[in-house]
Amino acid sequence: MIKGLYVHIPFCNIKCPYCDFTSFVWQENSLKERYIENLKKELKFYSDLDFNLETIYFGGGTPSVLEPKLLTNFIEYIKRNIKTSSTLEITVEVNPKTYRYEDFKLLKESGVNRISLGNQSFLEKNLISLGRDHKPQDTIKSVEDCLKAGIENINLDLIYGIQGQTLEDLEKDLEIYTSLPITHVSAYLLTAYEDTPLGVLVKNGSYNLPDEDTTLKMFELIDEYLESKGFYRYELSNWSKKNYECKHNIFYWTDVEFLGLGVSAWSYVENLRFGNTKNINEYMELVEKGIKPVKFTEKLDENKKREEKIFLSLRLRSGLDLEFVKERDILEELVKEGYGFIENGKFVLLPKGLMVINEIAVRLF
Ligand SMILES: C[S@@+](CC[C@H](N)C(=O)[O-])C[C@H]1O[C@@H](n2cnc3c(N)ncnc32)[C@H](O)[C@@H]1O
Ligand code: SF4
Repeated sequence: MIKGLYVHIPFCNIKCPYCDFTSFVWQENSLKERYIENLKKELKFYSDLDFNLETIYFGGGTPSVLEPKLLTNFIEYIKRNIKTSSTLEITVEVNPKTYRYEDFKLLKESGVNRISLGNQSFLEKNLISLGRDHKPQDTIKSVEDCLKAGIENINLDLIYGIQGQTLEDLEKDLEIYTSLPITHVSAYLLTAYEDTPLGVLVKNGSYNLPDEDTTLKMFELIDEYLESKGFYRYELSNWSKKNYECKHNIFYWTDVEFLGLGVSAWSYVENLRFGNTKNINEYMELVEKGIKPVKFTEKLDENKKREEKIFLSLRLRSGLDLEFVKERDILEELVKEGYGFIENGKFVLLPKGLMVINEIAVRLF
């Protein structure tokens, strides 16, 4: 049963130097309209699957570079063509410089009930260092407009580990985040992907990322500060007020089937993980010819599924069920080394463990 639908919108107003998401600075409206028509066609390819959608997530890129009407028209199309639950969570990722009250109102009327704002920081020096195109007050205005339009489930993204950022800077940021009427924070460690401008700067020594010790201190500060203000960490990078966890993202970590539409989107259906082409021209051409734009497929056998279960559960505060761990002595070592603890039959990572989650997962495979 497919419960989640991810829709990738690969357009942005600018390309941020750290970003390796599939997105293009591509402005012609006719092409955006053509892309949405192709999303509809692609959805039709899967009409024989068993759907009961509980979540739709518009991610990107920047969905909010689209006229809201394009999004709402597509949402109505989805609702007309597939079975959706009455408690559907619909999230739209929004850049703080784009949508205003009227736009949020249109989204709200079509059922959008969760907004995720790409804020990153409220300190201008961080926004400049990240090459962002918005100002702190754009996010404040977005939150106000969103609430005025009746959408009260709001996430703000935060990036930490920026060059020159101190723990005091981070605390100032957290103070502003928690003073706003939001329900959720996603905090990501700045990652320098190889093929991005930031990756090149880091490689040639022109941009300095913090060392492991500072990274851990930053993570602990975020965790302690947010928890003291009523935001609970339910996953490695995600904190929410009670009952405001992102249902859609939880599906990714808990073995629930989901379908992804659009360039570079991934799906997980009937033990198959498959991904679409990252090339937008190829995507358009294939879909228009009536061919699924899938480029990568992997069948998950029992062993692969167990490894995924270990890796994904370690991210969660609810932890990894001990029945998936073969080598109990490794678990005991990890506990002794201060990486995690055992609670109600689950192994739960502490911040020190979360910072080296990949290595820990491999030790448990
Ligand atoms: C698709 S973007 C959000 C919406 C919109 N595109 C924007 O940037 O305003 C998803 C989020 O991923 C995070 N992100 C992207 N690249 C990252 C990187 N290299 N390191 C850490 N976080 C990153 C940012 O917090 C970003 O807001
Ligand atoms: S971070 Fe967001 S706005 Fe910047 S390029 Fe990536 S998707 Fe686009």
